[in-house]
Amino acid sequence: MELSKYPNVHVLDHPLLKHKISLIRDKDTPTPEFRQLVKEIAMMEGYEALKSVKTTLRDIQTPIEKTTQPYVEGKNICFVPILRAGMGMVDGMSALLPTAKVGHIGLYRDEVTHEPHAYYCKLPHNLDTSDVYLLDPMLATGGSAIDAVKTLKDHGAKKISFLCIIAAPEGVEAFCEAYPDIPLYIGALDRQLNDKAYICPGLGDAGDRIFGTVK
Ligand code: PRP
Ligand code: URA
Repeated sequence: MELSKYPNVHVLDHPLLKHKISLIRDKDTPTPEFRQLVKEIAMMEGYEALKSVKTTLRDIQTPIEKTTQPYVEGKNICFVPILRAGMGMVDGMSALLPTAKVGHIGLYRDEVTHEPHAYYCKLPHNLDTSDVYLLDPMLATGGSAIDAVKTLKDHGAKKISFLCIIAAPEGVEAFCEAYPDIPLYIGALDRQLNDKAYICPGLGDAGDRIFGTVK
């Protein structure tokens, strides 16, 4: 796909990130290892996505002398996983910034139409003044992410970024058509969707693999 059309898209490029994504693609990677890897991948993506977060200066005393140093104010940062699979990314993000708030948006994709259906929403009150990081490992058709951003905007969010681990070109295009100004961080950009709207080569159903519910 022509990525230069979408300046908001950041496909991350680090050998360790690629390595960990290869491990979660493998159908024989067991659930505990899969979950741990998703956490580590989220940390790596979060490190990149949080680059523009504001710092404030505080005076402190080191064992040597007084100094003024930068700190990140976590209370104005909010991580919002799309349930279920986005939950797998929260631990990694929270490890980076334990004081960040966590909201939740519950969506599931209809198996036939592939349309998202909302079933849960709990978000912090100060969304309008927060940097919001929406989390979901998979961007397939883009329907779920587009719907979740709309929910965040309806609740007042003004500064939103979206982090996914694997994206399909179809989802990237749909997301960028809907929200050309929202930064989109991608661990790996895959080839295409199949006729069931699964990402190819992908990793299968992310929620099932994180929570061990694979049939
Ligand atoms: C998966 C995934 C995304 C969505 C992506 O969730 O975690 O939320 O599909 O597909 P889309 O881009 O075509 O909308 P799913 O609906 O399977 O729910 P689950 O996390 O509860 O398994
Ligand atoms: N949701 C998933 O979990 N995997 C896909 O490949 C597509 C949507």
